Amino acid sequence: MLTTTSPYKARILQGKGLFYPESADASSSLPYGGMYVPEVLLPGLEQIAAAFEHFSRDESFLTDFKEALQHFSGRPTAFTPLPSLTKTLGGARLFLKNEGLNHTGAHKITHCIGQILLAKRLGKTRIIAETGAGQHGYATAAVCARFGLDCTVYMGKKDYERQRPNVYWMELLGARVVPVTDGSQTLNDAVIAAFKDWVEHPDSYYLLGSAVGPHPYPVMNTFFQKVVGEEIREQCLEATGRLPDYCIACVGGGSNAMGMFYEFLDEPSVQLIGVEAGGKGMLPGQHAAKVERGKKGIFEGYHAYFLQDETGNIASTHSVSAGLDYCGVSPILACLADDGRVQFTTATDAEALAAVQQLARAEGIIPALESAHAFAHAFQLAPQLDENQIIVINASGRGEKDLFITMRHFQENSLKAYAQHLLQP
Ligand SMILES: Cc1ncc(COP(=O)(O)O)c(C=O)c1O
Repeated sequence: MLTTTSPYKARILQGKGLFYPESADASSSLPYGGMYVPEVLLPGLEQIAAAFEHFSRDESFLTDFKEALQHFSGRPTAFTPLPSLTKTLGGARLFLKNEGLNHTGAHKITHCIGQILLAKRLGKTRIIAETGAGQHGYATAAVCARFGLDCTVYMGKKDYERQRPNVYWMELLGARVVPVTDGSQTLNDAVIAAFKDWVEHPDSYYLLGSAVGPHPYPVMNTFFQKVVGEEIREQCLEATGRLPDYCIACVGGGSNAMGMFYEFLDEPSVQLIGVEAGGKGMLPGQHAAKVERGKKGIFEGYHAYFLQDETGNIASTHSVSAGLDYCGVSPILACLADDGRVQFTTATDAEALAAVQQLARAEGIIPALESAHAFAHAFQLAPQLDENQIIVINASGRGEKDLFITMRHFQENSLKAYAQHLLQP
């Protein structure tokens, strides 16, 4: 558990990408994280790691980052009380942090802005990215257009089909979107395709979209995303006079969760909860609950928990939300899970869909399906707490990208009629 002798915040940012749980014997156990990549990629990664270390302390870089967050993305995002749900559910007071109000509709733009500024400082001209729900790809395409860099985005074919609106936005922004037909045709396969591209074009910059992958990506994306928790601290103190009792975020790879949690890691009174995709249930292949059901392993350049089959190969995953449909989890979250500093749970597809409708009807806010997993858990937890307690939920994205998925679920006949109408000559 957390002790005052080892503040997490300093350990994470100064840890050079290796994360030792307090419970483990540092001399004998393999730390989470690392840089397990083919040799050809090491110089590129080391260049990015050195640039990040330098520029994350450089005043002019940090000023450019802050200004782009404010003027391009629209920070600070709103901290919104949920009075109607607080009343009907009973128990704790509910608030959401509306990351869906960011430009392009999700938190992903924040680490894209940070990384594109770094790529510019490194003189790069071509960006490679992977995407699941399309939000990271959409945000990458937007920053590439704005800062004048060429952009190629890899996307599993299944995600390409189910997140079509984001494919269209990426292409409109001038990006080349490549559907990946290997494996399960989801995020994991897109990551592998992006790495292959990087091996072939080592001069390109790989703009990785979560707190996963080899060092420095988990630390770097946490560093860029930590503005979320910093704003929550200030906004919650202003609104309520105190810190939250619970911070709840969905977990795909872990970037929105680390963005929310980082600021509170050394505040023992703030409980941190990550919600993974419970999919259709906990049978193999039906969910994406890496922490709850995964095993330790090394994949895609880092050591963490991965969903694996009995032979140790990566198992297939399922979630109604493409952004949570991924086999691995941030090595930082793996470490925090082992230490019990972040608790993990799951919400099913059905619970997430119900939470979308509940939040929409009660509070006039439609969350992304990914974020809806965090809401589903918060709605179960709130009635068990007392009215002096505060829950903050990270609304990592807004729901527009899921139009066709949620419409199919809630109004299938209207969707069919609309599709027929659109196809009329
Ligand atoms: C809106 C939204 N929330 C959450 C996620 C999950 O990613 P992460 O765990 O890195 O925040 C995604 C991924 O695409 C997303 O689009």
